[in-house]
Amino acid sequence: MDDLIATLPKAELHLHIEGTLEPELAFQLADKNGISLPFASVDAMRAAYDFQDLQSFLDLYYASISVVCTEEDFHELTLAYLKKAASQNVRHTEIFFDPQSHLPREIPFETMLSGITSALKRGETELGISSRLILCFLRHLSAESAQETLQLALPFRDQIIGVGLDSSELGHPPSKFVNVFEEARRHGFRVVCHAGEEGPPEYITEALDLLHAERIDHGVRCMEDPALVERLAAEQIPLTVCPLSNVRLCVFKEMSEHPLKRMLEAGLLVTVNSDDPPYFGGYVNENFTAVQQALNLSRSELIQLARNSFTASFLSEPEKQKLL
Ligand code: HPA
Ligand code: ZN
Repeated sequence: MDDLIATLPKAELHLHIEGTLEPELAFQLADKNGISLPFASVDAMRAAYDFQDLQSFLDLYYASISVVCTEEDFHELTLAYLKKAASQNVRHTEIFFDPQSHLPREIPFETMLSGITSALKRGETELGISSRLILCFLRHLSAESAQETLQLALPFRDQIIGVGLDSSELGHPPSKFVNVFEEARRHGFRVVCHAGEEGPPEYITEALDLLHAERIDHGVRCMEDPALVERLAAEQIPLTVCPLSNVRLCVFKEMSEHPLKRMLEAGLLVTVNSDDPPYFGGYVNENFTAVQQALNLSRSELIQLARNSFTASFLSEPEKQKLL
């Protein structure tokens, strides 16, 4: 099964570039930029990846990214992820970035964007991995802050395919961001939204009906609402599921309790993704292996998951056909 997982062509659709920072690179950048990390060593940093919930992870995620400062740093971070993804036969990736975690550190929007996009171009030419970029608003911040961030992105509309919503879910429903998503759609941005990770199934419905999300990131809590499952299946709304993330953030106690297999059986368009790989213990292939073993997925279910990842992507139909 591991051979099949390794050789299947895959697309990754739920990946936060800030969340790909490996401790080794974090220490290297901290040293270069004269910034101190609250850990004595790489091992101590890795040992701190023991989370009780989404917030305990986010606290560490936002603290760690402080070492990524220059255009070159963003380039190096992104290229390191692309190399890893390409080595796992990821052929296409749609990457989130969080401008609001960098703007308060006085990093210009153009600096982060240039660093990321120049690496994405190298990914295409040197590694054969195609990519798109999705700007995520931080939902624990205000709707006004999201609006300001959207304005910064407008001059770079052609380099960003869509907008999404991430960070602390509980207490920050999609309805808080109706206006900014409406404006983003007017400018032609595609829409995705984290919903139903820690938040209730109602947030998934809000993401669909109020933000017009085309894809739901996580969405695993839909399984608590049979009518919602029926709707998601009927409309073939993609759900970008991140199994290792869900277990490490205690959404499910153990992988054997993960609903991925039941989601497939319910006819949902689910995909497997890594979210924030070093924090959660694996890139996309490790996520496939973990669910395959815990849920006894068949070869045809693995193939279905890989096919779904291209179907659910923002590639054009001819681009999808070429990669499938
Ligand atoms: N959920 C919400 N916000 C995030 C995540 C996540 O899984 N990863 C990085 N930011
Ligand atoms: Zn995520």
